[in-house]
Amino acid sequence: MNPAVLSNLSYGMYAIGSSCDGNPNACIANSVVQVSSRSPEKVLVALTKDTHSCKAIKASGLFTISVLSTDTPASVIGALGLVSGEHTDKLRNIRHKVLTEGVPVIKENTCCWFLCKVIATMDLGHEVVFAAEITAGSDVSIGTPMTYAYYRSEMHGLSPKGSPTYIPPENTFDRSSGESFVCSVCGYVYKDPNFSFEELQDNWTCPVCKMPKKAFVRRT
Ligand SMILES: Cc1cc2nc3c(=O)[nH]c(=O)nc-3n(C[C@H](O)[C@H](O)[C@H](O)COP(=O)(O)O)c2cc1C
Repeated sequence: MNPAVLSNLSYGMYAIGSSCDGNPNACIANSVVQVSSRSPEKVLVALTKDTHSCKAIKASGLFTISVLSTDTPASVIGALGLVSGEHTDKLRNIRHKVLTEGVPVIKENTCCWFLCKVIATMDLGHEVVFAAEITAGSDVSIGTPMTYAYYRSEMHGLSPKGSPTYIPPENTFDRSSGESFVCSVCGYVYKDPNFSFEELQDNWTCPVCKMPKKAFVRRT
């Protein structure tokens, strides 16, 4: 099988909120599916075992899903999805609300949110799949839900190493212009035909993970 064919599986884009020892945290996940619309509605969420979120959800049995919209800034995805909250307060600069259950929902132009209670876990080796019932959520949804395809094609975003949707940067370069500048942290490829990379201001940062200009490497 050609692994590239897997990119034909469609996903949405979500922030998964959790809490560890009273400290709220969130990460980005695309591996979320609804499995039942019968009450109680159920979802499956797959998280890599070594994430802080996975450990917190295993311990508490609770998490939230905030549905990202096409207006959710790329910087929010970079902040929550490319850095671990184990030793950092990732929510420091992210608009959010902590529910009475202690878990946060993200308020960065997200469409809606759900509160989920774990009913079963499946250990897949490197990943854990949480099956959960939706116990509460938004009454209305605002905006257009962001798909993973939109994140890739319109926002030029990438997934971190190890995630099922990770594509090595060398496979993403736009070679038509001869050279490109690639973020060494998240793999974002800078391409603006009207503005060369050298012309960007020194305080310019990667639109995906917010790394400084010096984190970019030239590829020919
Ligand atoms: C676009 C995107 C999709 C992601 N999808 C998943 C996913 O489905 N499951 C997962 O475990 N991690 C996924 N991640 C990675 C986690 O968000 C990332 O490892 C995060 O740093 C974990 O944070 P934590 O250690 O605070 O939980 C994704 C990241 C991005 C940017």
